[in-house]
Amino acid sequence: MIVVAVASGTSADGLDVGVVDLRTGHDHTIDVRVLDTWTEPWPDTLGERLLALLPPATTTAAEVAALDTALGQAVGRVAAAAVARTPAPVDLVVSPGQTIHHEVVGDRCLGTLQIGQPAWVAEATGLPVVSDLRTRDVAAGGHGAPLAGILDRLWLAGGTGPRVALNLGGIANVSVVAPDGSTLAWDTGPANCLLDVAAARATEGRQGYDVDGELAARGQVHPGLLDILLKHPHYALTPPVSTGRETFSAAYLDGALARVAGGDGRPDWPDVLATLVALTATTVADAVRPHAPEEVVASGGGARNPVLMAALADRLDAPVRISDELGLPGDGKEAVLWALLGWLTWHGVPVTTAPGTRTPRVLGRISPGNDPLVLPAPIAPPTRLTVRARDEERTP
Ligand SMILES: Nc1ncnc2c1ncn2[C@@H]1O[C@H](COP(=O)(O)OP(=O)(O)O)[C@@H](O)[C@H]1O
Ligand SMILES: [Mg+2]
Repeated sequence: MIVVAVASGTSADGLDVGVVDLRTGHDHTIDVRVLDTWTEPWPDTLGERLLALLPPATTTAAEVAALDTALGQAVGRVAAAAVARTPAPVDLVVSPGQTIHHEVVGDRCLGTLQIGQPAWVAEATGLPVVSDLRTRDVAAGGHGAPLAGILDRLWLAGGTGPRVALNLGGIANVSVVAPDGSTLAWDTGPANCLLDVAAARATEGRQGYDVDGELAARGQVHPGLLDILLKHPHYALTPPVSTGRETFSAAYLDGALARVAGGDGRPDWPDVLATLVALTATTVADAVRPHAPEEVVASGGGARNPVLMAALADRLDAPVRISDELGLPGDGKEAVLWALLGWLTWHGVPVTTAPGTRTPRVLGRISPGNDPLVLPAPIAPPTRLTVRARDEERTP
């Protein structure tokens, strides 16, 4: 089955596209072949308008509705182009939408909202669309995020010790995967979301992020600011938990800077950026260390930030690898995750963000394409995932 996934993460930095061939293999494995991944820039001002929904901004139902439509249309155009350039017929589109609010109180997720009407995607492609992949998990008592553990446990089980997958998106999330596949996955805290805010402020809007960590590299960690930031209650929660940009927002960073300013004055922007790098590296390393993994496999845009990667390597005992080394593209891993989740929904496989404590559910909502919906018979839950090279021969 060939699945096209089009998604935007918390960074709202563009639409990540994945074209993935997924098949059931021997012995409850899923055979995954990543045919292509790339990122499409936002049309016009869509990315800015999505970011403008975040606190401290207020918005209107009219703007939310307009963005729900505009994003659905944008995903539809990108998905249709991806279908057109894929030589083999595409069977399914996955469009998880943009999270505009993720309501977490203490260690509970009360609700989560992704926009980007899937009807536009079905209309543009004529294909069935899986969307809304978080809310059923929330309704079943989970956080609906991070969902990465569902892929990571299939992908990284079978080591000689625990392995950790680390995704450095707007938010940092980790999956600790034991050799037998049991997995604990949660959001450790901010990765790029605060860095991006600080980079934009530092450059008066000229840069959306700190390219290659150049600003952070020029700064020094400000111990007073780091202390204030490390006191956020999220870090003391017992996983699995999630968080989002409504918590680690521009308003939150401004509040922390104001508290420092009340003392010895706001640090220079490079120092703020260096401190935010230290915040992510410290909170990730503190989260990972007790699990003593044999390796940490990094992905996401933050893995391209050499200053952040060096700060992490300093604080972790385990070697840090990039997910490309294990066959999944670091930049495209999230798109592969969405393709997998849509495929699991299509095949009636229940999953959960909190294995062991919550009952797995079949996630998502399916919009029919041009033809009536005909679902395959549900399959037994897969236990392993094999990543094959694009042109690797398949064993029949
Ligand atoms: N060369 C780079 N140097 C520093 N940061 C980078 C670089 N490339 C990407 N990033 C960071 O990665 C972010 C995007 O990461 P991504 O994995 O797409 O996150 P999300 O899933 O939240 O959208 C950007 O906003 C930026 O902060
Ligand atoms: Mg992104």
